Amino acid sequence: MTPDPAATAPVPPRTPGDDADWWRQAVVYQVYPRSFADSDGDGLGDLRGVTSRIPHLRSLGVDAVWLSPFYPSALADGGYDVDDYRAVDPRLGTLEDFDAMAAALHAAGIRLIVDIVPNHSSNRHAWFREALAAPPGSPARDRYLFRDGGGPDGSLPPSDWQSVFGGPAWTRVTEPDGTPGQWYLHLFAAEQPDLNWDNPEVRQDFLTTLRFWADRGVDGFRVDVAHALAKDLTEPLPSAAEIADAAHGTHPLWDRDEVHAIYTEWREVLDSYTPPRTAVAEAWVHASRRARYAVPGGLGQAFNFDLLQADWDAKQFRTVVTDNLALAAESGASSTWVLSNHDVVRHATRYGLPPGGGRHGQGQDGVDWLLTGGTSPVLDAELGLRRARAATLLMLALPGSAYLYQGEELGLHEVADIPADRRQDPTFFRSGGTEVGRDGCRVPLPWTADGPSFGFGDGPAHLPQPAWFAALAADVQERDPHATLTLYREALAWRRRLQGPEELEWVEGSGEGVLHLRRPGGWQSVTNFGPEPADLPPGILAVASGPLEDGRLPADTTAWLV
Ligand code: GLC
Repeated sequence: MTPDPAATAPVPPRTPGDDADWWRQAVVYQVYPRSFADSDGDGLGDLRGVTSRIPHLRSLGVDAVWLSPFYPSALADGGYDVDDYRAVDPRLGTLEDFDAMAAALHAAGIRLIVDIVPNHSSNRHAWFREALAAPPGSPARDRYLFRDGGGPDGSLPPSDWQSVFGGPAWTRVTEPDGTPGQWYLHLFAAEQPDLNWDNPEVRQDFLTTLRFWADRGVDGFRVDVAHALAKDLTEPLPSAAEIADAAHGTHPLWDRDEVHAIYTEWREVLDSYTPPRTAVAEAWVHASRRARYAVPGGLGQAFNFDLLQADWDAKQFRTVVTDNLALAAESGASSTWVLSNHDVVRHATRYGLPPGGGRHGQGQDGVDWLLTGGTSPVLDAELGLRRARAATLLMLALPGSAYLYQGEELGLHEVADIPADRRQDPTFFRSGGTEVGRDGCRVPLPWTADGPSFGFGDGPAHLPQPAWFAALAADVQERDPHATLTLYREALAWRRRLQGPEELEWVEGSGEGVLHLRRPGGWQSVTNFGPEPADLPPGILAVASGPLEDGRLPADTTAWLV
């Protein structure tokens, strides 16, 4: 069995057309722009940097780019604290740079999805400044969630709710006359005041924002914390303990049924374009609630993070796949698959740590390992990468859309030893260092083995890059037929060629720890979760995540047969 040389042949450019269903089985590559490529040497990645690396994305063979926030921001939360939803951070470029990037992506046959952050603005947004300058009860304050404090002098927060990043979810403001005043709600950092989605002006303004970017040719939206917009702040506010076990749909802050009325309005706007603009919800909700976000009359698709939370384990993977295909069918959307993103420890690293023990009783999440500076337990980096490659190849064989996170195509591991004085994630600061946060997966990419910041830019990188990045640089992998980059390219080329209806059939009998699936048209994927080599079914080998052993599939390896 030898790989088919046609798999590495250059992929012809495809200009995105009007196909309304393009997203259903798309491979979407997440660009975290401040860490992707820096065109002006200031240490921060920028939009011209993205444009300069389109050849990389094209040769990788992705269908779309999801661009994390590039809006003006003080970076209190890596750009998820937006000062102005209809502008580009001057450090990242201009609207003209954005248009040029979108045009160049489209010319390369790659669609563009932008991140939209509707739950909260930044505290530097014109509306929040106006709210601070206005008195309690004013229309300006009503765009946010201001409340009087408790206790005789209002010095107690309105409730004991905690922010997702640690610390209280309420911050007290100083009134224009200098006296201590009301409190505002922020589910995340204090620099991210939550918007009041009962306010019609807020609702209208986001429709304007959607149109603003859709008019500029954006193909879709990734909706940040989509499950938090609708809130019930009827007083008296319940305590955190009282709502800890709230039934689905009844929690005052998360996943309320009313949130879907917002997305019905959004869908009308999105559907007014040809082709309709897509949207994918980031909704960390119970699996049984996910379909509501993904229905065609709603956002149309929702992230499923189940694979990302599973251990490297055949049973867990199979259950996740089976359940999510059923859920997707329920909503009418296609499923989404994610192994890494900018919020979690990279999957090459997770799979190199002992399984289990995640924070939420799920698979290994690497969070506690990060707290030890990456020293305990000892990471088996080679095993982790081997499994990550196998997991990716399995994910890419599944019906639905696959989301890749920048750098995973280079086989990057998490960077665990970022010094405290270089950390940026608000999780680190708000938890008083008891959590280190997400900087380790956001370190600027290595494009070349040498040069300042490994080719990220002509200057330094805004987060320190480790010396081991040199060996994983894109230009090094370019010359290596066994490199992870080569594997990703071959897999995406084959996927495009083999893609058919969104159907999957499990093939039984390959033995315990082996997942064998068949897609329409004779595409088969076999993954050996180990530990012993497994026999492969008859077929021609298209691509494998590692070398075969005497025609057998070794442990922690996936092969596609045609
Ligand atoms: C989402 C983003 C995350 C951000 C948070 C608050 O979960 O993915 O990076 O910190 O929302 O906006």
